[in-house]
Amino acid sequence: MHAVGIVAAAGSGLRLGADRPKALVPLGGRPLVAWAVATLLDGGVDEVVVAVPAEERDAFAAALPAGSRLVDGGATRTASVRAALAAVDPAATAVLVHDAARPLTPPDVVARVLAALAAGAPAVVPVLPVVDTTVVVDDAGVVAAAPDRATLRRVQTPQGFDRATLAAAYDRLPAGAELTDDAAVVRAAGVPVGTVAGDERCAKVTVAHDLALAELQVAR
Ligand code: CTP
Ligand code: MG
Repeated sequence: MHAVGIVAAAGSGLRLGADRPKALVPLGGRPLVAWAVATLLDGGVDEVVVAVPAEERDAFAAALPAGSRLVDGGATRTASVRAALAAVDPAATAVLVHDAARPLTPPDVVARVLAALAAGAPAVVPVLPVVDTTVVVDDAGVVAAAPDRATLRRVQTPQGFDRATLAAAYDRLPAGAELTDDAAVVRAAGVPVGTVAGDERCAKVTVAHDLALAELQVAR
């Protein structure tokens, strides 16, 4: 198996509100994107392609290890992953798509995703149980349904795919379509998506509070 990691790092980080793109914001003195790339390589991925904001290429190149390939991202996460996927060597057999915004993901999670792909899964996502009662509300905010919590999972990254399966699913996706993750892209093409155990440390840095929590973790 030859596995390529794609890191979606082309977002601006509006909700974090930092003075630079979120993926360049330091955590323990090291940019978020550098943490995400290191996790993929430590977990067994062979090489990485990173989607970055076009105007920040130089800053990203300086933040990443030699050998990282950079591509210009798009206006949405879906467009950024599509651009990175187009740059992946067609000889690669597996692709793992990861958010730069999940810097403290343990390499073990990467290894579990790779193992599921090696065992023949066409698509696999790391998941965690939902611990709060979770409800559906109507337009007025009134609870309309309460799904059985035991069947619910929170989905994280890195998400793993057979490369050709993911490429075919993106080819089928209409230009301009925007989905929140890559598992949704292959599911739209009818591909079953398996699960492996995720990890609380895969938590996404979205708002300032998340970054403060991550700083506490690396300071230990
Ligand atoms: N992403 C991307 N290209 C985009 C938008 C997002 O590659 N056009 C990436 C982000 O860099 C991030 C991941 O997708 O690593 C998850 O997105 P999110 O947490 O929403 O990050 P941002 O879009 O940067 O943040 P915000 O939505 O607050 O602006
Ligand atoms: Mg976003």
